[in-house]
Amino acid sequence: MTSTFPEGFLWGASTAPHQIEGNNVNSDFWANEGRVPGMERSGDACDSYHRWGEDLRLLADAGLNAYRFGIEWARIEPVGGRFSNAELAHYRRMIDSAIELGLSPVITLHHFTNPRWFAEAGGWLADDAAERFGAYVEAACQILDGVEWVVTMNEPNMLSIMTAMARAATRATTEDWQSPTVDDRPRPALPPPDPEIGDRLIAAHRAARKIIRAKINSKVGWTVANRAFAARPSGEAKLTELQWIWEDQYLAGSAGDDFVGVQAYSSQWVGADGIEPYPAHPDNTLVGTAYRPDALAMAVRHTAEVTGLPIMITENGIATADDSRRIAYTSEALAGLADTIADGVDVRGYLHWSLLDNYEWGHWKPTFGLVAVDRETFVRTPKPSLAWLGGVARRNRLPAQEG
Ligand code: BGC
Repeated sequence: MTSTFPEGFLWGASTAPHQIEGNNVNSDFWANEGRVPGMERSGDACDSYHRWGEDLRLLADAGLNAYRFGIEWARIEPVGGRFSNAELAHYRRMIDSAIELGLSPVITLHHFTNPRWFAEAGGWLADDAAERFGAYVEAACQILDGVEWVVTMNEPNMLSIMTAMARAATRATTEDWQSPTVDDRPRPALPPPDPEIGDRLIAAHRAARKIIRAKINSKVGWTVANRAFAARPSGEAKLTELQWIWEDQYLAGSAGDDFVGVQAYSSQWVGADGIEPYPAHPDNTLVGTAYRPDALAMAVRHTAEVTGLPIMITENGIATADDSRRIAYTSEALAGLADTIADGVDVRGYLHWSLLDNYEWGHWKPTFGLVAVDRETFVRTPKPSLAWLGGVARRNRLPAQEG
């Protein structure tokens, strides 16, 4: 087994616009933030809308060579059919600067948030949803020249859950609508992704892919949240059933793509009765999940088996206040990843979640960042994990004792 990564391997970190930019006021998530009890607001977030230059430099100075970030549909098309050239130019400047700094941009077109007008017109459940998304994707293509990796949608399996929850909220009380992630209180069981919504998202993804391929030369794919399910002896049949609903439908939906993004954080047991909640444990993360660095390799092997596509690790990380645990977690996750590569899996890069401590969809306490951010002054303070990951990137291998 080797701890050296393939030549040209991408090393970087990931973010999402709503979680870092601040004041994403034309988005549906912004509108919902005040409605759910116990949910904190994103507000100015990390002010990355203005401070993105600093963010890029932090990555480049550390020795990383890639940055996954999103462009925000709600800014680019704040009103249906009206596209903002100024916002498109804003994101093009980010792309140009990233390339100048030696950071390969991995661009996400949709990361959970929708423009408010789109949500109000029925969102992903409206008959013309794919068409509306396609019009935005077409506009976005104007600024994507030279971008090698394009992600149409982040975690369609999670988006399917969020879409069903939003539908429930319009029908019932706001209490039925929960933020998708919580802090270290026991995680409420999420409803499973809705397969019918999943089919709609697959259709929208494929329509977007077609538009992108006609306009630019990027590699196109989407990223799937992987639960790294593992079966108890009695849970084999249930595992196959749940794997399809939670992730394989979306992995199958990536057929014909140029790559698939793997996003893995923890692993969960499946018994005869279904998914077992994470038991309380002192090692649990700040989002209540089990400490399972081995989840990454599990997710990679499963994704490779189902899709046969080249893989990009688009998210992997840990919500912890103790940065030495972040390094330990990532080191073990990467050792497992190196094993999958040694076994022949085609992995093209590793993008850590996240560059910054950011807005965790309703909560500020779960900190995933390689860099701390002062919420008042927005001053960025790199944690030791940033230099550590940069060192791995520069050497393109894990330190010997950890390999
Ligand atoms: C999402 C991120 C989120 C992260 C940590 C993923 O589901 O893509 O937006 O912050 O997990 O919970």
